[in-house]
Amino acid sequence: MSPAMTITTEDIKTKLEAIQERQYRNGVKHLCENGISKIPTKYVLPESDRPGSYKGKPNVGNVNLKLPVIDFAELQGPNRSQVLQSLAIACEQYGFFQVVNHGIPIEVTSDMIDTSTRFFELPFEERSKYMSSDMKSPVRYGTSFNQNVDKVYCWRDFLKLICNPITDVVHHWPSSPMDFRTLAATYAKDTKYLSLMLTEAILESLGLCGTTKNKIPEDDEIMKLFEDGSHLMVVNCYPPCPEPDLTLGMPPHSDYGFLTLLLQDEVEGLQIQYQDKWVTVEPITNSFVVNVGDHLEIFSNGRYKSVVHRVLVNSAKHRISVASLHSIPFKCTVSPSPKLVDEDNPRRYKDADFASFLEYISSCEHKRKNFLESRKLT
Ligand code: OGA
Ligand code: NI
Repeated sequence: MSPAMTITTEDIKTKLEAIQERQYRNGVKHLCENGISKIPTKYVLPESDRPGSYKGKPNVGNVNLKLPVIDFAELQGPNRSQVLQSLAIACEQYGFFQVVNHGIPIEVTSDMIDTSTRFFELPFEERSKYMSSDMKSPVRYGTSFNQNVDKVYCWRDFLKLICNPITDVVHHWPSSPMDFRTLAATYAKDTKYLSLMLTEAILESLGLCGTTKNKIPEDDEIMKLFEDGSHLMVVNCYPPCPEPDLTLGMPPHSDYGFLTLLLQDEVEGLQIQYQDKWVTVEPITNSFVVNVGDHLEIFSNGRYKSVVHRVLVNSAKHRISVASLHSIPFKCTVSPSPKLVDEDNPRRYKDADFASFLEYISSCEHKRKNFLESRKLT
């Protein structure tokens, strides 16, 4: 045999690994479809990053956390100023709160969970039509957190839908299940409205908007930016995992936008970093979990916190969540509000835009709040 024809076991191993690697890109739902009792090494985290660990040390206690609750109906009434105070405290101390009495009909949220569940139950061939490596594609099906750079994969599949402007994008969304577009579009419109109302309240709580005495014309300009702002919907699917202590549904991260509205089914999984440990957020029926994103931390010059969070998986139940990320338009730049910067409070962040964010996440392994850290002025 000529040397050129020699195939070593090493070659075969490399080839097999490459095939396996491509298989993992098809997602965890597909991986589970044939039934597995152990998770592949690709999903096994180093000990220090596993669910039982907090920054390499044991995560003491299994603490459940009741997040501050904001009653949206009350925010619209005579007690608005008290609710704004609670909102400010929640954004400063937790970076998270839950919204109840939000006014979105229960059918709208339950239909969204229901049609999303049915989407992930479609045959793989149907779901995979929406796979794309183009970050700007109006619809993108994929797996893990940032599958192009993740060394260890996460136990999640996702469907990302760009929602602005809705009339331009909706016909790119999945046509199956048949009711998906209609139900997802209704959900997108309702959550957009809720996000605008919450954004207005948050700006007001920072002394920047609404009935604030020192309001300036620029304050109204900010709200116009949000009305035409970016809106991304991420439908997350976490199948039951045979070894949930070895992996995560999502690694520790912060959200890049201004505000995230999270809808989850009744299965818990979300954990936030709070007082030097990971704490599990107790789901409240018919509520939204809302969190401060990197853009709001920058805009508030550090007063409101974009808090790191992660997702646990479990061996028994399937979990679906829908995260709606809202911010100003893609082409705009976020900087600390001039009204929140003075001699006592010097500017603490560099400007941030979407282009630099996208470049950042595609160039390195996304860990903790890297992007936000990169924006900090020392
Ligand atoms: C996210 C996120 C939490 C969850 O999509 O950014 O943090 O519980 N989701 O799915
Ligand atoms: Ni998140």
